[in-house]
Amino acid sequence: MQRLRGSPGIIVLLFYFICIWKDISGLCPVSCDCDDGNLRAFCNFAKLDVIPITLNPHLKYLSLNNNRIKTTMLSLGVYRNLEHLDISHNELVKLTPFNFIGLRSLQLLNLSSNLISELNNETFLGLESLTELFLDHNLLQSIPDSVFTKLRGLKKLDLSMNRISTILQDSFQGLNNLEYLSLRSSKLTFIPSESFHSLKNLLTLDLGLNSFPSIPENSFSFLNKLTELILDNCGIQEIVYGAFKWLNALKILRLEKNELSEIPTKPLFDVIYLEEIYLGQNKFSTIKSRSFQRLQYLRVIDISDTATLNRVEADSFADNKNLERIVMNYNKKLNYIDASTFRNLHELQEIHLRGNSFQSFDQDLISGGLKVLDIRDNPLVCACDMLWLATYLRAVNLSFSSEEDFSKVRCASPSNLKDKILRELTQSDLGCTLKDHRRPIITGIIVVAVVIMVAIAVVGFKYRKKVTGTLKSRWNTRKKETKYHKTGYLEEDDTILQAAQRPLKIAPVTEL
Ligand SMILES: *[C@@H]1O[C@H](CO)[C@@H](O)[C@H](O)[C@H]1NC(C)=O
Ligand SMILES: *[C@@H]1O[C@H](CO)[C@@H](O)[C@H](O)[C@H]1NC(C)=O
Ligand SMILES: *[C@@H]1O[C@H](CO)[C@@H](O)[C@H](O)[C@H]1NC(C)=O
Repeated sequence: MQRLRGSPGIIVLLFYFICIWKDISGLCPVSCDCDDGNLRAFCNFAKLDVIPITLNPHLKYLSLNNNRIKTTMLSLGVYRNLEHLDISHNELVKLTPFNFIGLRSLQLLNLSSNLISELNNETFLGLESLTELFLDHNLLQSIPDSVFTKLRGLKKLDLSMNRISTILQDSFQGLNNLEYLSLRSSKLTFIPSESFHSLKNLLTLDLGLNSFPSIPENSFSFLNKLTELILDNCGIQEIVYGAFKWLNALKILRLEKNELSEIPTKPLFDVIYLEEIYLGQNKFSTIKSRSFQRLQYLRVIDISDTATLNRVEADSFADNKNLERIVMNYNKKLNYIDASTFRNLHELQEIHLRGNSFQSFDQDLISGGLKVLDIRDNPLVCACDMLWLATYLRAVNLSFSSEEDFSKVRCASPSNLKDKILRELTQSDLGCTLKDHRRPIITGIIVVAVVIMVAIAVVGFKYRKKVTGTLKSRWNTRKKETKYHKTGYLEEDDTILQAAQRPLKIAPVTEL
């Protein structure tokens, strides 16, 4: 490690010669931090206007972020062994053609947060080893054809936060090994489906924060390895049946913050291996029965912050037997959930219903085996019908993480219980003994029953002789009758038997 801070010229010269003498290990400018052992140099926040050319030419790692560098012209050829180059947060406007031509070992190039507005088919020539390219937070408006053609090893391309409205059919040509592509937060008004033909190994595609009112059929052709698709904040009103065709490896789908008026049940038929779906902040009011049919591998459903959602119908998740986590938090109007909603979901570990409009919960809604039940911040009416919940919250350990205690569910009303913690309330706090409205009815029934029994007893006592007399005489006559019938029946029976047996014995003889 060598540093020079405003040293007199002679020392500089002397030092310079020593350096050349030994091995060329370069000069480290005052504002830089050089680690020659590891061939790294850090010149961040150094007020540099140009890329210094006196650094160790064997550098592998050069970080130049937060300077005022306007051009990379001619300077980078010095550092032919670079593997990591960070020129982010500078003032690069244009990348001159053949700029990076000698950087055959460069693996990561960070050009994030510059003023780059143009690329062409000669910009990135020579970067044979590049695996990660960051071009986010620039001023790009279009991606011309064949810009990345020679970047055969590129795995990650970040083009987010630009102004891209045009992507051509061959814009991504050559990116056969790309795994991650972000076009997030740009000016796209349609899905650039035609440009995806080279991206056969793409795993993640982020198209969030663009503008796609409709997602047409076959929007993601050729992306049959894609596992994560991000389409949040895109103003999507409609997803056409067939839009997700090809996406049969998709595991994660993000559709939150759009304008969907219904859960896109049918378009989801094509993504049968989906495991996680995020649908919050859309415009639907109901989660209808079997909204996620065919999605038997679904593990996570998140529908939060949906201002319009008010109902979850029976069997909404009936097809999703592998669900582990259901999050429906802060849906301000949500006040109805069918009691059978979570029935038969044996893998379910987490239910999040925080910050909705539930005044009570049905006991049948909650089954055993949960690790998390978060029902905090609902306008709970703490009456006797919530006694089961108080008992449940006391009994089970829902403290999933130490920071958050999910069992601290508070009451909203009645006023004397406002903000009280439900699990700490007793039966009488909840008015179970005093205010049970069934009590007068039950008492009434008991009183009536007692009156009737007493009346029967009195009547019976008064007419006991008459009653016993008639009973006795009836008993006797019946006894005689049965005796007579019995003998009669037996005799009859015998004769029938004998009569029946005689011809039977004779029959074979006569017939023979
Ligand atoms: C690229 O630069 C940006 C801005 O300085 C920074 O936030 C980001 O972490 C960098 N990326 C990598 C992979 O170094
Ligand atoms: C870049 O494109 C131009 C035409 O637009 C072409 O003349 C030139 O040969 C291309 N360069 C490379 C390296 O493909
Ligand atoms: C509940 O679980 C947490 C974390 O697993 C544990 O730290 C805590 O002691 C448990 N509490 C009770 C009352 O079992």
